[in-house]
Amino acid sequence: MSEHHPAPSGEPVVSSGEAAASSGQHADSSQGHTVSSADSITVRVPAKVNVQLAVGGARPDGFHDLANVFLAVGLYDEVTATPLPPGADTDVPRITVSGPDARLVPADRSNLAARAAELLAARHGLRPAVHLHIVKDIPVAGGMAGGSADGAAALVACDALWGTGATREELLGICAELGSDVPFSLVGGAALGRGRGELLTPLEVGGTFHWVFAVADGGLSTPAVYREFDRLHEGRAVPAPEPSEGLLAALRAGGADALAAALSNDLQPAALSLRPALAGTLEAGAAGGALASLVSGSGPTTAFLAKDRGAADAVARALEASGTCRAVRVAEGPVPGARVV
Ligand code: C5P
Repeated sequence: MSEHHPAPSGEPVVSSGEAAASSGQHADSSQGHTVSSADSITVRVPAKVNVQLAVGGARPDGFHDLANVFLAVGLYDEVTATPLPPGADTDVPRITVSGPDARLVPADRSNLAARAAELLAARHGLRPAVHLHIVKDIPVAGGMAGGSADGAAALVACDALWGTGATREELLGICAELGSDVPFSLVGGAALGRGRGELLTPLEVGGTFHWVFAVADGGLSTPAVYREFDRLHEGRAVPAPEPSEGLLAALRAGGADALAAALSNDLQPAALSLRPALAGTLEAGAAGGALASLVSGSGPTTAFLAKDRGAADAVARALEASGTCRAVRVAEGPVPGARVV
């Protein structure tokens, strides 16, 4: 990535190379020997697509019960955690972001990465004295859990940097506090999310699926899409969301045709209502040979399932030629969740 933009806070934007360079061994010349220290930790974390998103009626707490089948796909953000230098304000994590869309990412405490560091530090009686540098490649506000991914990655990075020894259960609990999609960013692979999406059951997947993602201009607010879902269902009973047996069987078998036939997203009509132009993108991908086309999560990224890698490349070319989207990405799934690299 060669394009850099200043982060909104005015923080200097550093490259991923600079951010990761301090990891691992360093020479301590004053002592005349080399010491090994983890003075920075980098975590790679994938995006997700929802292969089923069944949405129930609004709950009293404003959330919606879901049957949410997540698949982690190989578009990645990286979060590098480095201790703040002596003399810095150690009560607030410092956030910097690089990547083509860095300017769209909040570089303050509202960033889920900062909140993750603060929650973990508070639980372990530590100060969140950490610089978190995010190398952003997952579409921003795109329905692919990019913000959630950074929260999960920061949590894993700070846990390793501070040696908190938190259990997997504790980390998952913090993830659920951060947001409905954050636990899945930690575990990756494929999983069924119940409740508001945070109660996960891992799913078996029998193969690799080939996807194309069309990135739209601008983002969509997840709460706004859920509000539009409520408006579209006003005065009607919304059935309790249930996972599709056909979809789970298709995932287990690993066949793209069967999965294509079973894909569904109850938020798609709401996303299309707020962003009618997405219909043209869905049509362009279908015309380009996609087995199925759907909005990813709350959108506005659209997702296209292809038969194999060659077909995915053809769909990507058709989408690029159509002029109906800002960028096109090809990725496979499932892939693992947040991991130290
Ligand atoms: O959990 P998270 O902070 O990601 O949710 C963002 C917003 O999306 C919520 O405030 C809510 O408006 C909506 N949401 C929902 N039902 C869910 C998940 C999210 O209504 N299951």
